[in-house]
Amino acid sequence: MQRLYRKRIVLGVGGGIAAYKSAELVRRLRDHGAEVRVVMTQGGREFITPLTLQALSGHPVHLDLLDPAAEAAMGHIELARWADLVLIAPATADLMARLAQGVADDLLTTLVLATNAPVALAPAMNQAMWADPATQANRELLLARGIRLFGPGSGSQACGDIGMGRMLEAEELARAAADCFETGLLTGKHLLITAGPTQENIDPVRYITNHSSGKMGFALAEAAAEAGARVTLVTGPVFLPTPDRVQRIDVVSARGMLAACEAAMPCDILIAAAAVADYRPEVVAPHKLKKDPSTGDGLLLQMVRNPDILATLAGRADRPFCVGFAAETENLLEYAARKLRDKNLDLIVANDVANPSIGFNSEDNAVSVIDRQQHETRFGQASKGHIARALVAFIAERYKES
Ligand code: PMT
Repeated sequence: MQRLYRKRIVLGVGGGIAAYKSAELVRRLRDHGAEVRVVMTQGGREFITPLTLQALSGHPVHLDLLDPAAEAAMGHIELARWADLVLIAPATADLMARLAQGVADDLLTTLVLATNAPVALAPAMNQAMWADPATQANRELLLARGIRLFGPGSGSQACGDIGMGRMLEAEELARAAADCFETGLLTGKHLLITAGPTQENIDPVRYITNHSSGKMGFALAEAAAEAGARVTLVTGPVFLPTPDRVQRIDVVSARGMLAACEAAMPCDILIAAAAVADYRPEVVAPHKLKKDPSTGDGLLLQMVRNPDILATLAGRADRPFCVGFAAETENLLEYAARKLRDKNLDLIVANDVANPSIGFNSEDNAVSVIDRQQHETRFGQASKGHIARALVAFIAERYKES
């Protein structure tokens, strides 16, 4: 099981002797499926070379805030947005103190202030430094701000002392990192999620479809599984691996998607992220259509309406909590609000697909969620994984209030 599959982890390496364990940590995180980018403090570089961590992570190591070349490749704000988790290992007493004070005088501390991702520290220091009231006060402050602490452990230390302050081992840290994504918010609930495009056949070799890659729906399924839900993912044709602990049902057409969704009912929450074809050719030609000289350069296809999957499920007696998506290129919020009403939804996620950096087939998304009271909640641009986790947390909260 790759518990950190495709999770984006910024690993911050501080200046302590335990920095040698960071090399192993990069390997373990990648073994668990994570993508890792390393940021080193000046002190960290005294203990382990950037080249080692570059070779193990497969990416250049980020060193300085004011390095124009590095900033051009991936600036510190971009790196902060890229991260699903910022893990600092080792976190020295000095680094903890600087983070507690909100200091931003190097790349790593600046990144911690700039990120919306969870931040976790793996403290590593001499036992007396760990026990010092100043460090303990910083620890309390960091915990109160939602920063997580992994360890430290107890045992013999590099300086010869014995006590608390050892950095946890790489595998323990990798497991703790994976646990950060397990929220348990939807434990015991069944979520039905649609994803991807549908294909509507014209003849045996041609079909009508759209640009949906399935990334948003799959990210939602993964986030829902991490929230403890039983997840059924009904997907049109896409080229994506199935997230862990998700039951995937592959379909082709809108009618196939409706049948699969009906078979998966009942569910507690339905999230319809699929881009379903509204129309299909009335007749599927039994053989490949040939150019017909009698129709000149044109071809007329008679199309008929497909069933609306979301509206159908929202109209059932055992109606689940219904969340739709609205992909629009203009009048986004107005059209989304109309779909919320027309399809009898609880929430709708408005997705501006006119912007190529978000929406169809992009890595990122940015959305607004509208509720029945027309209240809008904005989720700014971030990876689809990040947006999915935020949406699942939001949906879980609204579902519990309903
Ligand atoms: O897959 P990606 O490349 O990651 O892109 C993500 C996305 C842009 C496809 C996704 O975020 C999104 O916006 N999905 C909905 C796209 C859409 O077709 O919206 P719509 O406005 O046509 O439909 C409104 C809602 O009704 C949607 O929840 C849709 O799933 C549902 N619907 C629509 C038609 C239909 N026949 N049955 C439905 O269930």
